[in-house]
Amino acid sequence: MNSLNKKDLLDIKSLSPDEIMLICKTATYFKDVFTRDVKTVPVLRGKTVCTLFYEPSTRTRLSFELAAKMLSANTVNVPVTTSSVVKGESLIDTVRTLEAMKADYIVMRHEASLAPHFLSQNINASVINGGDGYHAHPTQALLDTYSIIEARGSVEGLHIGIIGDIKHSRVARSDAIAFKKLGAKVTLCGPSTLLPDEFKQYDVDITYNLDELLPKLDVINMLRIQRERQRGSLFPSIREYNRLYSLTDERFKRCKPDILVMHPGPMNRGIELDDAVADSPNSIINEQVTNGVAVRMAIFYLLAGGTPFSDGEGN
Ligand code: CP
Repeated sequence: MNSLNKKDLLDIKSLSPDEIMLICKTATYFKDVFTRDVKTVPVLRGKTVCTLFYEPSTRTRLSFELAAKMLSANTVNVPVTTSSVVKGESLIDTVRTLEAMKADYIVMRHEASLAPHFLSQNINASVINGGDGYHAHPTQALLDTYSIIEARGSVEGLHIGIIGDIKHSRVARSDAIAFKKLGAKVTLCGPSTLLPDEFKQYDVDITYNLDELLPKLDVINMLRIQRERQRGSLFPSIREYNRLYSLTDERFKRCKPDILVMHPGPMNRGIELDDAVADSPNSIINEQVTNGVAVRMAIFYLLAGGTPFSDGEGN
């Protein structure tokens, strides 16, 4: 595997297992950059990276911006709520404006599924998907994969549970595809109203009973309840959700002692999981955030045509 040989990074479906591993291996080298006093390398010197987020974000937008800065790129964020978008400018015109200003990479998040795919076919700049509707969040899946490999050495053979609001989750869709491609057993679990039948197509197991599933898991990924995407009530109450699907301190005691606890953030503490669990030694939630920068550096590097590092490089 020489490089990604792609213009864009749009979803996990279009990456082979070797390409996913290439991104993870390259991220290992870029994580070393964090430990240096001078945290920059000249990979994207002279290039411009624009972040264009039509939905709120803390982790994804900031980590792309940090990653680009550490690779010596010029970075600019389009503040959508105070840009010409509010005057009715279309997505394609906004992005063509960025291209006219010579943007080389456009990192975008949009509420419409496949918006980045549409853009990628209509502009020359590289498009990186920072999350589109319910559809995909490929860089989250790559950093989740990387974080598991860092902690356990491999994803293959692990039993990974993805718990909660599956229906509205682009993370669940992208994670399930990535973990399956690398040989994990994946079980999705949540209330039936938040776990529709369409998920059977992902070749995953499905259960509505968290208590039965918990003792079998090597990794548990707790999803955020996406109240902003729910129309009408999809579970009786937060109290009921908590009773059946929260990773409470009590439930945590029934997990394997070395279970990895993950959450893509932002967390609703006390709803998806208890403080004691989120802050326990089993939790790699903060490490996921750190790894997000390294993985996004690797993605920029490989989209720019960077070739794999040989062992010993990057230290
Ligand atoms: N995990 C994730 O996408 O977080 P943000 O919404 O803060 O970017």
